[in-house]
Formats: sequence, C-alpha cells, structure tokens
Amino acid sequence: MEPIISNSPEQTFALGRDYAAKLRAGDVLALDGDLGAGKTQFIKGLAAGLGHTGEVTSPTFTLVHEYTGGKLPLYHFDFYRLESADEALRFGLDDYLGESAILAIEWAGKFPALLPASTRWLRFRAGDGDQRTIELS
Ligand SMILES: Nc1ncnc2c1ncn2[C@@H]1O[C@H](COP(=O)(O)OP(=O)(O)OP(=O)(O)O)[C@@H](O)[C@H]1O
Ligand SMILES: [Mg+2]
Repeated sequence: MEPIISNSPEQTFALGRDYAAKLRAGDVLALDGDLGAGKTQFIKGLAAGLGHTGEVTSPTFTLVHEYTGGKLPLYHFDFYRLESADEALRFGLDDYLGESAILAIEWAGKFPALLPASTRWLRFRAGDGDQRTIELS
C-alpha cells in the first residue's frame, strides 16, 4: 500500500480515527516502528473513532489496556518490554485473540509468530521534525 505522510500528531490521530471505520470485530492490528514514531498517537485516534472517550496511554508496565464502552472493545497491547513469546501466552494473549474486539499491538514485530495470518500490519517511521511515514494494510 502507498505510504501516507503525516506532518503532525493531529494528522496521525485523524488517520487512526478514520481507520477505525474500516474495522470489524476480531481484527488484529500490529503496529511496528521506532520509539516516538507515532504508534500510540495513532491508537488514540483509533480509540476515538471506535467511540471511546477515556484517556489512552501506552500500556508500558501492564502489557494491556482495555477500553470498553465504545462500538467495539479495544485492547491495546505493547510488546516493548516483553522478553519472550511465552510471557505473552502466559498473560493470556490467545484469549484476547478469540474475543469480539479490536486488538492493537505496539512493537508487534518482536513476536510476529504470536499473531494470526490475518493480522493487519501498520508500519510507522519518523522523518525530519514532525514528519512521519505510515504504511497501512
Ligand atoms: N506526525 C506525527 N505523528 C505522530 N506523532 C508525532 C508527529 N509529529 C510529532 N509527533 C510526536 O511524536 C511522539 C509520538 O509518540 P508516540 O507515543 O505516539 O510514539 P510510539 O511510536 O508509540 O513510541 P513508543 O515506541 O515509545 O511507544 C509524540 O510526542 C508526538 O507528539
Ligand atoms: Mg507507544
């Protein structure tokens, strides 16, 4: 897919918000890219697009944050601190994968084998200043 250029955090938020309209229960989104590339910012937009009103923060120390009360539940994972695929399985990742919800996983590329073949991969890259390149699938 054609890469999209975002020139501000607001633009990345809007991309996430619009992307939410295409999603269906059970969709898994794998977000990859460096620190500060905009993954969490995109997920904030996604949450807004799904109708969630609460604050969205990175689940850095807890592995998952759950947002409910919108059109579909959104489970926000971050594999950044995960040391092994086993750790994710012990945590119950497979149970989440079986849910009627949207899963959005930051740093998913660390353990791609945990994710279903149908996973949508979203790649984020930081450029000069506020420029970010985002590839959606
Ligand atoms: N075009 C842009 N899109 C998104 N964020 C931007 C953009 N320009 C600047 N920023 C800033 O870059 C940072 C992106 O942070 P964000 O937490 O979304 O990154 P991340 O990819 O989730 O990083 P991490 O791997 O640490 O979780 C924010 O401080 C945001 O304000
Ligand atoms: Mg993040």
